[in-house]
Amino acid sequence: MTQSWTKTDWRAKPRVQMPDYPDAAGLAAVEAQLSKYPPLVFAGEARRLRSELAAVSRGEAFLLQGGDCAESFAEFSADAIRDTFKVMLQMAMVLTYAAKVPVVKVGRMAGQFAKPRSAPTEIKNGVELPSYRGDIINELAFTPEARRPDPQKMLQAYTQAAASLNLLRAFSKGGYADIHQVHAWTLGFTESEKAAAYRDMANRISDTLDFMTAAGLTSENNSELSTVDFYTSHEALLLEYEEALCRIDSTSGLPIAGSGHMIWIGDRTRQPDGAHVEFARGVQNPIGLKTGPSTTADDLKVLMAKLNPKNEAGRLTLIARFGAGSVGDHLPRLIETVRAEGANVVWSCDPMHGNTIKAASGYKTRPFESVLREVQEFFAIHRAEGTVAGGVHFEMTGKDVTECTGGVRAVTDEDLSNRYHTACDPRLNASQSLELAFLVAEELQASRSAMRAAI
Ligand code: PEP
Ligand code: CO
Repeated sequence: MTQSWTKTDWRAKPRVQMPDYPDAAGLAAVEAQLSKYPPLVFAGEARRLRSELAAVSRGEAFLLQGGDCAESFAEFSADAIRDTFKVMLQMAMVLTYAAKVPVVKVGRMAGQFAKPRSAPTEIKNGVELPSYRGDIINELAFTPEARRPDPQKMLQAYTQAAASLNLLRAFSKGGYADIHQVHAWTLGFTESEKAAAYRDMANRISDTLDFMTAAGLTSENNSELSTVDFYTSHEALLLEYEEALCRIDSTSGLPIAGSGHMIWIGDRTRQPDGAHVEFARGVQNPIGLKTGPSTTADDLKVLMAKLNPKNEAGRLTLIARFGAGSVGDHLPRLIETVRAEGANVVWSCDPMHGNTIKAASGYKTRPFESVLREVQEFFAIHRAEGTVAGGVHFEMTGKDVTECTGGVRAVTDEDLSNRYHTACDPRLNASQSLELAFLVAEELQASRSAMRAAI
């Protein structure tokens, strides 16, 4: 697949959504420096994720992908990482317990810094400045200095990603994620109806674990009980950063994006002949492709052929993001295209990006009901088509923010200003994330019963 590919080929292709760095020498120096740094992930890990995603494509596992819309330098802390990790473990536990499938856990973490924007500039009080494009590129403050793309920020993003991944690896393998901690993950969790439901489930899991211990199956002799695999992912938007971290895997001799286990191509950068597709097609990592209402059958055919020429299961995840009420207009036609091509894909549902609205208060928000409705439409269509609803993709945080409205501990339009911390899109808070996991679990259970009935 990669015979006639080099990591710099994207440079000859049309690029969108990338900054023009005014300081060319500064940019070159940073690229040279990053190229010498160790990769953040290793090829064997990306290959393992790929084989787990292959199981997802067959309906034998479920993908849970989630995290910040944009990671921020200012909000970086061990607590923030732990809280998001913890909610993802809880969500995975709910899904595994209800639907009896393993959950592949992938964070939008340790690299999710660069953002596509709807306009290249922003005008405030008659002053026009470049848009904020994420902490790896420029700063949110509305001044010419802050908005100037600064290549040095790539080094800070790399350092933050390395430290985040280090902590995630420690949490995953060092005892925190031991399934016997299923109760401890609830501690410090804000009280809600779903927290009680979670505790009930945790009690039942504890019972089972007591039985297993009595039967001789313990964390000491079973790493499946004491550790989890947790993967990282981000949108591969800033290609100078991606190229600088691209490495040759010594086992296969093939290129690998060293910036994260999985990378995805955004809805605004998926031009079949564009720079982003050109970069992604050459690396071995699992690739995500955001698939929105404007995705045509012809584009999808070309993209699948380019991104997965050998039609390998687990290589390509289509992340559908149409908006509640619109899934029926687009998902069936694209499922038909995938079927006609005989393509192997994972279908995942991003119910966030098609459901962003502006509240009366002026805040960007997402109603919980719309998020849930899009998920339900996604599952219902896959059941009707006899295809596999493979996963979900959420913008979420373990913190108690007020960015999306609704949920059982209802966040109202008026509440949004209380704890609105996102640097970009509104995220589900911990309580909303857990509530959604219970509702997704119901859908997943229904789909698995339908699958079994069809066999
Ligand atoms: C995102 O995932 O943050 C994003 C910008 O999504 P999309 O490309 O689907 O709009
Ligand atoms: Co977003």
